[in-house]
Amino acid sequence: MKQIVLIGFMGAGKTTIGHLLAKETGLTQYDFDELVVNKIGMSIADYFDRFGSDAFRAVETSILEESADLSGIISTGGGIVLKEKNRTILKEMPCVIYLKADMMALIERVVLDKRNVRPLAESKSPEEIAEVYLPRAPLYEESAKIIIETTGRTPEDIVKEILNKVGKR
Ligand code: S3P
Repeated sequence: MKQIVLIGFMGAGKTTIGHLLAKETGLTQYDFDELVVNKIGMSIADYFDRFGSDAFRAVETSILEESADLSGIISTGGGIVLKEKNRTILKEMPCVIYLKADMMALIERVVLDKRNVRPLAESKSPEEIAEVYLPRAPLYEESAKIIIETTGRTPEDIVKEILNKVGKR
């Protein structure tokens, strides 16, 4: 397996699991949020403020298109599944893994995470974050080849399951 793409809501562990998977497989990790920041030359929060979410989503799509043939572990941003075009690209990729978690666990992680500034979660109540999550949940499911339940598990345990499943494909 030369490419593993991780999808899931904010706080699902895409970056952390991607990092561990890269270590275990020797593949390079590509983090979408970093690729976006490199491309736009400013923070995601500033870009949202100045140009709006549609412009951000367009940058995200161009990076996904460029990633189609990339070898490596690709950690996407939580909103990647919103556009139908992106879901079509994801469905054509060989190994897209949905890191699934209970909604309340995700919301708690997003609220407690002070390191990442996320325009769609910043200064929002748990109810408002749930409103962002709920319409997305089925889109993650339909875009993934493999679904991994992550609630209450350690990153190491999750990585073991992924490598087990991917190794058998
Ligand atoms: C977003 C998730 C963020 C980042 C941006 C928008 C979203 O990535 O791409 O703030 O719409 O869910 P993470 O999922 O890595 O936090």
